[in-house]
Amino acid sequence: MSDSRPVEAFTGVVALDGPSGTGKSTVARRLAERLGARYLDTGAMYRAATVAALRKGVDLADGVAVTSVVETSRIEISTDPEHVSITLDGEPVDAEIRSAETTAAVSAVSAVPAVRALLVDAQRELIADGGIVVEGRDIGSVVWPTARPKVYLTASPEARARRRAGELGGDVAAVAADIARRDGLDSSRAASPLTRASDATELDTTDLGIDEVVERLVALAAAAN
Ligand code: DC
Repeated sequence: MSDSRPVEAFTGVVALDGPSGTGKSTVARRLAERLGARYLDTGAMYRAATVAALRKGVDLADGVAVTSVVETSRIEISTDPEHVSITLDGEPVDAEIRSAETTAAVSAVSAVPAVRALLVDAQRELIADGGIVVEGRDIGSVVWPTARPKVYLTASPEARARRRAGELGGDVAAVAADIARRDGLDSSRAASPLTRASDATELDTTDLGIDEVVERLVALAAAAN
């Protein structure tokens, strides 16, 4: 039986990093609910920045132009795990940030160091009050290195492709190819590549259900609180 009571007033910062298809978003949101904490999806911020760049029609290979678009855009994100929402210049873009076009372009935008610096600043402001579960790629390594617990989720390539295809619809082989392409870009970029922080706890979710992963993280958070 799982215990659904929140852990008493969680005031810390949980860092949840790892590639897509590991169950990270679902787990992060549920964990925040269980802890009575806030929730921050940093990937959604990179996606909203990408929507801004695509709308302005700038060349995504032009880091200066992309940065200037992001600098002059207003990205606001809710940290309520029960009402996840993000706006760009006041307009909700929750569906648009998940489109195939945005997903195909987000690695280029998130590889621009000045874009990362802008978004990391915004993330740190949101995190500063504590009591928050933060998911991304560089939370434990760059954004909030003192986060406890600091967890790195993994899963086999097959499991990740199956989960993503289940969420988005589509062919598992095509999804697997897209995951491999984005992993390669996210891991090889010069600025804050996707890596496991040396002091992060690695959790392989290949053979674990979502509930089981959440239970393990609740225990880690309770121990850290
Ligand atoms: O988690 P996601 O798929 O929504 O993330 C979208 C993209 O943003 C992904 O290609 C990696 C990038 N990202 C990043 O570089 N740093 C983060 N902290 C979060 C996401």
